[in-house]
Amino acid sequence: EGSDQPPANKWSFAGPFGKFDRGALQRGLKVYKEVCASCHGLSFIAFRNLADPGGPGYSVAQVAAFASDYKVKDGPNDAGEMFERPGRAADYFPSPFPNEQAARAANGGAAPPDLSLITKARSYKRGFPWFIFDFFTQYQEQGPDYVAAVLQGFDDHVPEGVTIPEGSYFNRYFPGHAIKMPKPLSDGQVTYDDGSPTTVAQYAKDVTTFLMWTAEPHMEARKRLGFQVFVFLIIFAGLMYFTKKKVWADSH
Ligand code: HEM
Repeated sequence: EGSDQPPANKWSFAGPFGKFDRGALQRGLKVYKEVCASCHGLSFIAFRNLADPGGPGYSVAQVAAFASDYKVKDGPNDAGEMFERPGRAADYFPSPFPNEQAARAANGGAAPPDLSLITKARSYKRGFPWFIFDFFTQYQEQGPDYVAAVLQGFDDHVPEGVTIPEGSYFNRYFPGHAIKMPKPLSDGQVTYDDGSPTTVAQYAKDVTTFLMWTAEPHMEARKRLGFQVFVFLIIFAGLMYFTKKKVWADSH
C-alpha cells in the first residue's frame, strides 16, 4: 500500500498570474502525439483548439496541416458506408481504441484513461477540515505534480517487500506501486527542434504542461478576469468609502 509523495515542480502556470509556457505546450503536444496517443485518448480537445488564444499558439494553417496527419473515421456516405479521411481542424483527437473493452484487452485489463482532464482528476482534496487549506496552498499543482511524477516514477529495481504481479510495473508514485502502464518515456525518444533537453524529466514536464492546458484551456483568461475583478473591487470599495463620508457628513 501507499506510494511516495510526488515532488513539487516550478510550473509556469502556477499562481494568480501564471501563464502556460508556449514552448512547453508545443513540445508536450509532440510528446503526446508521438508517445501517449497510441494508448490514451484526448477526446475533449479538437485540433482547432490548438489555435485558440491561451494555448500552444499555432496558426489556423498550422493546425489544418497538423490535423491532416490524422486519419479520422467518418460516414455513412451516400452509399451507406463508413470511411476514413484526413483530419480537419474541426475534428476531435481520435481515440486509440474503439471502446473500453478493446482498450482493456490491449492493456492487461486496465484501460488507459482519457488524458483530457487527467491533471484535474488526479489532484486530491483532503477531508474536512483540511481541504480549506488546499485552497491556499498548491491545490492547482497537485494533479500536474502527480502526473509528472508517475511518468518519472518507473524503476527496474523493485524495493524489498513490494511484489509486482505479472503484467504490472513498479512505479514509485502510483497508488499501490503496481501500474499496468509500461514505462512510456526514455531519453532521446522524441526529437525537439528548439534545443530543449531530450530527457525523460523534460518530456514529463512538457507533456504535463500540455495536459494541464487540455484540462483548463481558458486558464489564462480566467486568471486575467479574476485579477480585473480584484482591481475593480478595490477601486469600488474606495469610491464607496468616500460616498459614505459624503452622505453621512452632516448627521449626528
Ligand atoms: C495510466 C499518462 C503513455 C498505458 C496512465 C495515467 C496517466 C498516464 C497520468 C493514470 C495513472 C493513474 O491512474 O493515476 C501517460 C502519458 C503517456 C502515457 C502522459 C505518454 C508520455 C502510455 C502508453 C501506454 C499507456 C504508451 C500503452 C502502452 C496506460 C495504462 C494505464 C495508464 C494501461 C492504466 C494503468 C493502471 O490503471 O494500472 N497513463 N501515459 N500509457 N497508461 Fe499511460
